[in-house]
Amino acid sequence: MLDKNIVWHNQNITKKDRAELLDQKPMLLWFTGLSGSGKSTIANTLEKRLYQLKYKTVLLDGDNIRHGLNSNLGFTDSDRVENIRRIAEVSKLFVEAGIIVITAFISPFIKDRKIVKDLLEENEFIEIFIDTPIEICKKRDPKGLYKKAMQGEIKDFTGVSSPYEAPVKPNINLKTDKLSIDESVDKILEYLKLEGYIC
Ligand code: ADX
Repeated sequence: MLDKNIVWHNQNITKKDRAELLDQKPMLLWFTGLSGSGKSTIANTLEKRLYQLKYKTVLLDGDNIRHGLNSNLGFTDSDRVENIRRIAEVSKLFVEAGIIVITAFISPFIKDRKIVKDLLEENEFIEIFIDTPIEICKKRDPKGLYKKAMQGEIKDFTGVSSPYEAPVKPNINLKTDKLSIDESVDKILEYLKLEGYIC
């Protein structure tokens, strides 16, 4: 809860100033999807393509952030809520700095993704659903986690013993069982161009 003795300070340099200096429109590209759906791979390739186009980006990825900032959090519902709350605040700071932020977190709850959206200004939040059927994620199982979860060695595992709430109206829906990684990235870049986020 915010202490009543804490006051907000306005700053001389605004987000608009920083964005103008960087010559880009800051935004948050929020990936959501099951473990093994392809979030990290597509996000990584997207960042490389944006970098080659000279955009200034940062990529926040679930597994990496859980090594540091969120290393004290697990996978209970309340820890996942706190995980996403912190990522949302960090993302907002980067957006304030004029950066294009790409995030790759399961972020299983609709309510939490809505909180992230509401933290930003209109049109700064772009929800990208990595829409991979669970059967395919289980078959891919790149880290062997589904196998462990189904054997009961990992508890609260998304899609097995913890829920995943798919987005109802994501800005972009990528069916990775039908698209290659490059095709998925092309679709995102097309959307960003069409909507005037990038040139
Ligand atoms: S989130 O649900 O809180 O958004 P996050 O994206 O940070 O999850 O972390 C997910 C990653 O943690 C998965 O890709 C997987 O590698 C690993 N992981 C370990 N345990 C679990 C679990 N119980 N449920 C889901 N992912 C897990």
